[in-house]
Amino acid sequence: MIKTVLVSGGAGFIGSHVTVELSQAGYEVVVADNMSNCDDTNYKGVCAILGKEPPFINMDFCDSSAVAKLFADYKIDAVIHFAAFKAVGESVAEPLKYYRNNLLSFLNVLEAARQSGAAVLFSSSATVYGEPEELPVTEASPRLPATSPYGNTKQICEDFLRDCCSAYGLRGTALRYFNPIGAHPSALIGELPRGVPNNLVPYITQTAAGKRERLSIFGNDYPTPDGTCLRDYIDITDLAKAHVCAVRRMLDGKMESGYEVFNIGTGRPVSVLELVNAFEKVNGIRLNYCFAPRRAGDVTAVWADPSLANEKLGWKAVRSVEETLAAAWAWEKRISLHEE
Ligand code: UFG
Repeated sequence: MIKTVLVSGGAGFIGSHVTVELSQAGYEVVVADNMSNCDDTNYKGVCAILGKEPPFINMDFCDSSAVAKLFADYKIDAVIHFAAFKAVGESVAEPLKYYRNNLLSFLNVLEAARQSGAAVLFSSSATVYGEPEELPVTEASPRLPATSPYGNTKQICEDFLRDCCSAYGLRGTALRYFNPIGAHPSALIGELPRGVPNNLVPYITQTAAGKRERLSIFGNDYPTPDGTCLRDYIDITDLAKAHVCAVRRMLDGKMESGYEVFNIGTGRPVSVLELVNAFEKVNGIRLNYCFAPRRAGDVTAVWADPSLANEKLGWKAVRSVEETLAAAWAWEKRISLHEE
């Protein structure tokens, strides 16, 4: 029996890559998105990669009757919830916008799952670990108080899911992503930030493409080997495959408890400067960059211990940072410079 997976936010960066991997693994995928933070570029790319059009529903997950109707129209075996706002700085300025959207949409998903019995996968973040005292972080590392409303919504949604699994017997998984970067090897789907990018890799690729004059490296006086921050950059296709493993584990009855949490990272710390140098080297480009003051709210270093996901999900990150940065540049060239 073919199982059906609903992907909320399925037209976005992570959602589109997950749609591709799930479909290629034999799942029926229903894509839902309100297109509030993207256009149809990635959905069209998904259709081109797959050679078919997964059902697409334009809807807002804050609309409880629309969510109920979706679950009535399709027999959903699992739902992966990506639909959320994600700009850390904006969440500090507009907390109510973030709390209303990110919490209400997930409550509606949980209510639908309670009634239908669908398994739930929540897209969480390494942000729940804050500035960790010990590295690498394991799933047992303490969750520290969030430094932004965005981060707080990740913690609260994890708690919503844990409590609903315990009370209603739901199956739930939270995947804590480290820093997802790159693009599909086809260059047909990738990251499409609106306006000035907040994140490092789209800022790098847009600078290389001439859309931004210069990259600012925020802080070179951190207590790290080269003074710049350390992160765990995870290839978007590797990350997407982790979702297939987690959905399969839930639907095949392999979970060890109703609610499970996994770090999704490489286990490899890379500094901002190392990432910039790797981008220049693999793509043969000199990047215009300068050192700038630290960015408020940045942690010095965070990287994953991914051994739980390696063992229990049978998943492992396999792509090198170089491969990923080459894919990111191929995507940027197609989108900005119209090079095929
Ligand atoms: N950076 C720069 N220049 C830029 C952009 C970023 O030097 O123009 C640096 C940052 O200071 C940081 C590193 O690049 O040291 C990575 O920054 P990103 O913005 O790409 O990623 P973050 O680690 O800040 O953010 C990620 C996710 C968020 C999540 C956050 C906290 O994108 O969703 O981790 O865990 F909330």
